[in-house]
Amino acid sequence: QTYHLDQQSKETKVFGVVGNPVAQSKGPLVHNAAFQLAGVDAVYVSYLVDDMRTFLADFAAPDFAGFSVTIPHKQAALEAADVRDPLAETIGAANTLVRQKDGTLAAYNTDCSAAIKAIEEGLRSRSDVSNKEDPLRGLKVLVVGAGGAGRALAFGAKDKGAEVMIANRTDAKAEELAFAAGAHFVPWASLQSSSVRAADVLANTTSVGMQPNVSETPVPRAALGGYKAVFDAVYTPMETQLLKDARAEGATPVSGVEMFVGQAADQFELFTGGPAPRQVMRDLLL
Ligand code: ATR
Repeated sequence: QTYHLDQQSKETKVFGVVGNPVAQSKGPLVHNAAFQLAGVDAVYVSYLVDDMRTFLADFAAPDFAGFSVTIPHKQAALEAADVRDPLAETIGAANTLVRQKDGTLAAYNTDCSAAIKAIEEGLRSRSDVSNKEDPLRGLKVLVVGAGGAGRALAFGAKDKGAEVMIANRTDAKAEELAFAAGAHFVPWASLQSSSVRAADVLANTTSVGMQPNVSETPVPRAALGGYKAVFDAVYTPMETQLLKDARAEGATPVSGVEMFVGQAADQFELFTGGPAPRQVMRDLLL
């Protein structure tokens, strides 16, 4: 990534992605291209940060215009913000911080709607889904993982009228989230069993299957029969083992790429107040 510092002025806004690790983030790629294309005078860089609170208080205030927040700072970002969007508050995690005119930071969660929209698109493409307007309504959704992304999926699917089930490696966290979201708890061990076929949609929000561990999968193929759609938040590789298995079992695979593009585009709109060049952002990533 090349930054043309000589082309910047006092007015150039500085945005960035904050995480640990952060080097793998595609944020700088898509956001800088989007700024350039939309004629927005801004740059986007990445920050490797250990302590979010210290970073925001001592380093980032008040010159930075906004941040994308990634693992493991989404909860800390919500807590550190001055103003919180109600959806982010409910989920308990923020992936977006925007500097307001008065200098305060507002927290949002764009992961949730991006993932839900991607799953809905996948479902709409199927002939066995009749409710094209509200495809998740009445369906059973099994969310795998109870971290920030798992919480976003659980509350988002519930909000769309789905019956939600949650499984997590650490069972206690799944039980806790199930209670908070009005969902059902599914023991982690039962995911490995072909008898667990109770849902229409599976959503993996864990990092299982992410590069370099591409042969790993959170749910074996033998347990994937009967699903209409399988979503994977992992987007490196773009087609995970889970999605390959899902396709082979007749489910519609929904790639994490769609969630990434959606959350980044929504973020761009919060950052700039203008429409995001979504197609270009998607093409760049692909
Ligand atoms: P994110 O914001 O992306 O959800 P997170 O909050 O750190 O990230 O959550 C990571 C999730 O992936 C958790 O559900 C975690 O399970 P635990 O709660 O048991 O830690 C899950 N996870 C990470 N590595 C995993 C692995 N190897 N097998 C199963 N689950 C894993």
